Amino acid sequence: MLLILIALVGVSHAANILFMSGVPSPSHYIWQRPLMWEMGKRGHNVTVLSADIEKQPPTNVTYIHLENFYSTMYNTSMREKVDFFDMASQSPIKLLGLFDEFGMNLCEAAIESEGLNFLLNYPKDFKFDLFLSDIMIGPCLPSIIMHRFKDVSYIPVTPYNAPSTAASVLGSYAYSGLVPNHVYDVPEVMSFVQRVKNFYYDAYEMILHEVYMHPEADRILRTIYPSAPSTTTFYKNVRVSFINANPIIQYKEPMMPNMIPVGGLQIQPPKPLPEDLRKVVDAAQNGFILFSLGSNARSDLLGPERIRNILSAMERLPQYQFLWKFESDESKLPVPIPKNVYIRAWMPQNDLLAHPNIKLFITHSGLLSTQEAIWHGVPVIGFPLFADQFRNINYCVEAGIAKRLTIQHFKANELVDAVKEILGEPKYATKMKQVSRLFRDQPETPLERAVWWCEWVLRNPDADLLQSRAVHLSWFRKYSYDVLSFVLGVAVLLLATSKSKIE
Ligand SMILES: *[C@@H]1O[C@H](CO)[C@@H](O)[C@H](O)[C@H]1NC(C)=O
Ligand SMILES: *[C@@H]1O[C@H](CO)[C@@H](O)[C@H](O)[C@H]1NC(C)=O
Ligand SMILES: *[C@@H]1O[C@H](CO)[C@@H](O)[C@H](O)[C@H]1NC(C)=O
Repeated sequence: MLLILIALVGVSHAANILFMSGVPSPSHYIWQRPLMWEMGKRGHNVTVLSADIEKQPPTNVTYIHLENFYSTMYNTSMREKVDFFDMASQSPIKLLGLFDEFGMNLCEAAIESEGLNFLLNYPKDFKFDLFLSDIMIGPCLPSIIMHRFKDVSYIPVTPYNAPSTAASVLGSYAYSGLVPNHVYDVPEVMSFVQRVKNFYYDAYEMILHEVYMHPEADRILRTIYPSAPSTTTFYKNVRVSFINANPIIQYKEPMMPNMIPVGGLQIQPPKPLPEDLRKVVDAAQNGFILFSLGSNARSDLLGPERIRNILSAMERLPQYQFLWKFESDESKLPVPIPKNVYIRAWMPQNDLLAHPNIKLFITHSGLLSTQEAIWHGVPVIGFPLFADQFRNINYCVEAGIAKRLTIQHFKANELVDAVKEILGEPKYATKMKQVSRLFRDQPETPLERAVWWCEWVLRNPDADLLQSRAVHLSWFRKYSYDVLSFVLGVAVLLLATSKSKIE
């Protein structure tokens, strides 16, 4: 009897939590993982619907595989559209369209997937108490889940940059005069012409969501639930949101009170290095330099010309040990590998950045990599490829902790000069240490903050009062374009009547 009672008490504290990591990009999953596992450790029953899964999931965490997501992204017409080394030359308009299209393609893939169907076929009365999902996938897939598991409290999350990207979900503002659009490569202090363009990109993105993304998401949703309401209605389930932002290390943007900044959520205390790496970096007397282009753009697809330039630059800096995350073996290299270069298909980036011998990080400037570099106080050379990577590196350059190069056309000597400058002038390391100290000085870790807010929502499932009313307003009204049109109309009318009186 007592045992049953104890068991019941245990169950009543444990919540059923569903996480969805539907964006087929490892960094999107890795960012959410510490939170998934921590909720499991706290005794909650965690279900993870994801394109990335674990071979050995921890206790209390069950994975359901979105098994066709990577093949949809890399083996369809999307493939030609996502050449990561070519994206830097694409227009913001095209990229914004691609973002929306990408979410819809994945939603169509999800409907065909065994993973989603397995979840949708759970017993009719199965209840999730909380649902968290990556908003970069758009409204379609989350709406399917929220329509199936009625009235589940929802926490949209994003490892991506820019609270303004989430403007429609969270009611925040895209502040066009102040902050460059997330895919627009300009400095924070924009010229007039740049601000005109930025205004246009922000408006285009907003209107695209209304005229393309939501109607298309509605259409796909209704192929499986014909009587489902519009995907715009799922906003009513939003309680709070987790944004990968920290104002110390990013552009300052207005944030609504339900946006909980958890910038650097993925950063864990460093673990011991694998034996081969430990030997190499411990022996690096003058320090080592880590080179990695992240998890989407593979270094082995850079092409022989760029690879030759990179290796030649490394060879001309023999005083430093280089580690290069290179996904194929040496036979794919066009020239023999220099003595001071160690290549490996995968690098424990966070653990290497925490090593005392590291001097410099050469990166694609993804947000997670940028945060990890700053957290560990390692200066940066950025080769931004697409999307928010431009603003990440632009911010770091302006803050005096980085230099920027172009992957499309760079010469070996540019890389050599950049390395020599950053390591030769102490100002970069000094400034980086200061920014790092400010980033780390927080009342609790980003993970603890996220956990606290998850449990706050579980304790208060009815708490919809933090949400801004702006999510239910059309952009025309939210930004006062209706008022401006009226004022302009009155002014024109007055001018016209006064003119006709004079005549
Ligand atoms: C799993 O959840 C139970 C309660 O449901 C809890 O007692 C236990 O500590 C959790 N296990 C782990 C390994 O976190
Ligand atoms: C815990 O989650 C798993 C995976 O979703 C599910 O199969 C199981 O029924 C859940 N347990 C309870 C007690 O709800
Ligand atoms: C990828 O496409 C090729 C041909 O276009 C096809 O043979 C192969 O089965 C596809 N692979 C996956 C995983 O869908």
